[in-house]
Amino acid sequence: MSAVLHRNLKKTLPTAVEGSAGYIVDDSGRKYLDACGGAAVSTLGHSNGRVIAAIKDQLDKISYAHTGTFTNEPSERLAAELVARAPRGFGDGRAMFLGSGSEAMEAALKLARQYHVENGQPERSRIIARDMAYHGNTLAALSVGGHRQRREPYTPLLLDVGRVPACYEYRLRKDGESQEEFGLRSANALEAEILRLGADTVAAFVVEPVSGATLGTVPPVPGYFSRIREICDRYGVLLIADEVMCGSGRTGTFFYLEQEGISPDIITIAKGLGAGFQPIAATLASEKVVNVMLAGSGTLWNGHTYMSHAVACAGALAVLRELDERDLLANVTRQGAKLGAKLRERFGQHANVGDIRGVGLFWSIELVADRDTKAPFSTSAGLAGRIKSSAQELGLLLYPAAGCVDGEQGDHVLIAPTFDVSDSELDFIVDRLDAALRSCLPQALAA
Ligand SMILES: Cc1ncc(COP(=O)(O)O)c(C=O)c1O
Repeated sequence: MSAVLHRNLKKTLPTAVEGSAGYIVDDSGRKYLDACGGAAVSTLGHSNGRVIAAIKDQLDKISYAHTGTFTNEPSERLAAELVARAPRGFGDGRAMFLGSGSEAMEAALKLARQYHVENGQPERSRIIARDMAYHGNTLAALSVGGHRQRREPYTPLLLDVGRVPACYEYRLRKDGESQEEFGLRSANALEAEILRLGADTVAAFVVEPVSGATLGTVPPVPGYFSRIREICDRYGVLLIADEVMCGSGRTGTFFYLEQEGISPDIITIAKGLGAGFQPIAATLASEKVVNVMLAGSGTLWNGHTYMSHAVACAGALAVLRELDERDLLANVTRQGAKLGAKLRERFGQHANVGDIRGVGLFWSIELVADRDTKAPFSTSAGLAGRIKSSAQELGLLLYPAAGCVDGEQGDHVLIAPTFDVSDSELDFIVDRLDAALRSCLPQALAA
């Protein structure tokens, strides 16, 4: 019996004993192609020599010195590199480093609050977020998240957050509505919510630019984000982009919002930043935010013991070197287009695949009991969980999840392979996913 408080207290998990490129080997010797990087984390696979060497090297120099007293070289270099890569408006911005995406989101929300207080608008405290978003599991991050099941037991502890619909084209675009009209309608819901709450009470709008775990890699429609930016500017609301999952190169650019040509005020990144070699996340504050802090208290009101950890930052710097020197983001775009094409070719006409969506190496298929009505499978079928187990039996690690329709109903399968995934590995992913569907769908249809 394990003494670890696992996610499932009754299940015995295989032990991962070895990582090699895009593969994980367990204690029974079974080898799995990791096509989801856990939760879109392992962008460089599980055995990157350069990152491991950088981490060991930093351990030999110094690992921990309190950030109230000292800075360290890796965090200084990493912050400078990230603000230089960020969209315009971050050049003289700053970055803080934390241990998880949830912590980065807490820091982002607190930073937004600090900005308004220091800017002479302490009445701005309300946050608006989208339905079906996931922003993490700490209490404020869970409050802004819109995943009904995950929130449910904690409801009495959560903040009261304003809510707008996600930009979820497959289910929310109306018949006869163009993508642009849908984008405008979705974005305008933010304006309505700001006005409902009282424009001078709203601090920030929080959004995953490409929805990740809850909806399954839903990119925005054209025009959505430029309208969102306009609305935020008009009402003095900060735009917080949660790129914890979709950032760090996963979509082919380091920050997804580069592709939309707009700049948020605060950005969070995590998963691919450390690529799984060390836990690390970042919250980036734009010049606009930093300038108010500089003109005000000149301090950051939110600190943590392990922030800007030298070893984690050294690992992340080596991850950036790998991305640059191996031109991996070009590979993300190239192999991502192939993955999308292969998924469409294989499942485009599949009776139970309602939607195939994604960008870069960040793709999902959404499963439906009926393609015409888009009816989801019965929750009692537990389809997402079955597909995960079945694919694992077949040597493939995927990230299926339930709840994309309304927090409970709806099943999708998320695919997020390593940035250097090969053509034959893409074929393996599509073949084994197909086999997993063939083994699970009959039972789900009968449920
Ligand atoms: C978009 C997004 N934000 C925040 C988080 C929380 O990150 P963590 O699990 O590292 O706390 C996640 C995790 O999946 C995420 O996908």
